[in-house]
Amino acid sequence: MRNEIRFLLNGKAQHVSDVAGDVTLLEWLRGKPHLRGTKQGCAEGDCGACTVTMARPDAMGRLEHWPVNSCILFLGMIDGSAIRTVEGLASPDGKLHPVQSAMVAADASQCGFCTPGFVMSLYAAWQNGRGLSVNEVDTTLAGNLCRCTGYRPIVDAASMLDHGKDGDMTKTDMANEAAMLAALSLAKDHQDDICLGDGVTQFIAPATNASFAQIYTKNADATIVGGATDIGLWVTKQHRKFGTFLWTGRVAGFDQIETDGDFMRIMPAVTHQQFLHHIADDLPECAELLRRFGALQVRSSGTVCGNIANASPIGDLPPVLMALASKIELTTASKTRILDLENFFLDYGKQDRQSSEFLSAILVPQEPAPHLRCYKISKRFDQDISAVMLAANLHLDDGVITDVCLAFGGMAGIPKRANHAEAKLAGKPLDMAHFKAAAAALRDDFTPLSDMRGSAEYRLLTSQNLLIKYGLELTSSRQMRLAGTDLAAGLEGWS
Ligand SMILES: Cc1cc2nc3c(=O)[nH]c(=O)nc-3n(C[C@H](O)[C@H](O)[C@H](O)COP(=O)(O)OP(=O)(O)OC[C@H]3O[C@@H](n4cnc5c(N)ncnc54)[C@H](O)[C@@H]3O)c2cc1C
Ligand code: FES
Ligand code: FES
Repeated sequence: MRNEIRFLLNGKAQHVSDVAGDVTLLEWLRGKPHLRGTKQGCAEGDCGACTVTMARPDAMGRLEHWPVNSCILFLGMIDGSAIRTVEGLASPDGKLHPVQSAMVAADASQCGFCTPGFVMSLYAAWQNGRGLSVNEVDTTLAGNLCRCTGYRPIVDAASMLDHGKDGDMTKTDMANEAAMLAALSLAKDHQDDICLGDGVTQFIAPATNASFAQIYTKNADATIVGGATDIGLWVTKQHRKFGTFLWTGRVAGFDQIETDGDFMRIMPAVTHQQFLHHIADDLPECAELLRRFGALQVRSSGTVCGNIANASPIGDLPPVLMALASKIELTTASKTRILDLENFFLDYGKQDRQSSEFLSAILVPQEPAPHLRCYKISKRFDQDISAVMLAANLHLDDGVITDVCLAFGGMAGIPKRANHAEAKLAGKPLDMAHFKAAAAALRDDFTPLSDMRGSAEYRLLTSQNLLIKYGLELTSSRQMRLAGTDLAAGLEGWS
């Protein structure tokens, strides 16, 4: 077991040990390295003031740069990566990076608080060669909030940037970073498991599947960490204390989407952004839903498995993966079992998951889903959790509805199918009368709660209207959507 993490910080190799397992990257950066350009605004992944970039070599050895919220990323999660903060953009002679120059030229540096985060989001887009066009820039900046002045000059700065221009110096930097990361990974103990801790909280990052399962069997009380976009907040906002974190993100193969017979197999560390990229062409409805999942920083860290394992009644992916008839694989050191995803959610806060079992894969059927529709209702278009969510799917057999699934979020204590409403559609022709009957039957399926996201009446009426909308979308050629219709434009670059 290795007791230190190794990474690059603004191009320089770092070896860090003796740090508590629950220290966030932001806390650490602003501490000993004294890099205080990166700010803390909300400490919950919402405002983007703490954005830094994180690069890990992809399967081809190229460096992909992702903007991440350092406030909810545990330090142990950066082993083997190249981190860049706002202090690391200008060249040693003080020459500004093109992104910084564009911000200056567009008068886009408004207050000192949000600006570093905006710069780093634009830097990630600039480095990756995508995300700066008029169609893309809203998606690029959706995770960065300005609370006082406005976005127009920042968007102007983005429009001044040309990915290729002035890139030579940075290309050399990137080649150096890739070579230095390769050198770190050649160290003889690179394949060892890692444990970073201070004797109170430890952060364990196993290197292999077998090791992960064994450690979890021995430490059944450990808290599994995927992207920490939920767990990070338990530490920063709820101030909870943990003994052991067990991270999926360093396990070889856990970041892959594989083909498994008729299914795609989504492994535990696959992020939302990876999933979005993978399904953009075949499941555009699901991809558009993912584009509205948090913002780029959250999607670059958060995992698909984490969104299922947390079993939130308002999580976005459970309804859509249920509507696609997905399965879930649960593994211990000695056995593996597979169950239908919908049977995983038993009751609020209760899942069909036994001691030492972890979610080792989600199996999503690969078949086309032309009648799949996803409707997310939230107060903001980007970076907001659903008040109500409907994922609907059906097959047509000679004009007759079969295999209908109406999966809702926000309507019960768990993500849940509407059995009564489904019964009004099954075996019927595709006709609005049946969708209206199904919408009425939702009263028998759900008794929603009132909370800050919506009242019970609002939720019921909204769910009924969404079902009517689904019927209208399938039975007429009328344009039913105000936003999200130009999917190709919205996903351009980021898919
Ligand atoms: C700003 C912000 C915006 C967000 N927006 C959305 C949104 O639009 N829609 C939405 O649905 N959610 C949203 N979320 C919530 C969160 O991002 C998602 O639930 C995310 O998918 C969680 O994944 P994670 O990998 O970060 O999970 P973590 O925080 O690492 O873990 C979450 C839970 O899952 C468990 N877990 C993780 N992986 C496994 C595994 N392999 N086996 C067993 N247990 C496991 C953990 O122990 C923990 O209980 C948002 C969060 C933030 C901070
Ligand atoms: S401080 Fe607001 S997202 Fe991190
Ligand atoms: S919050 Fe910084 S300019 Fe608005």
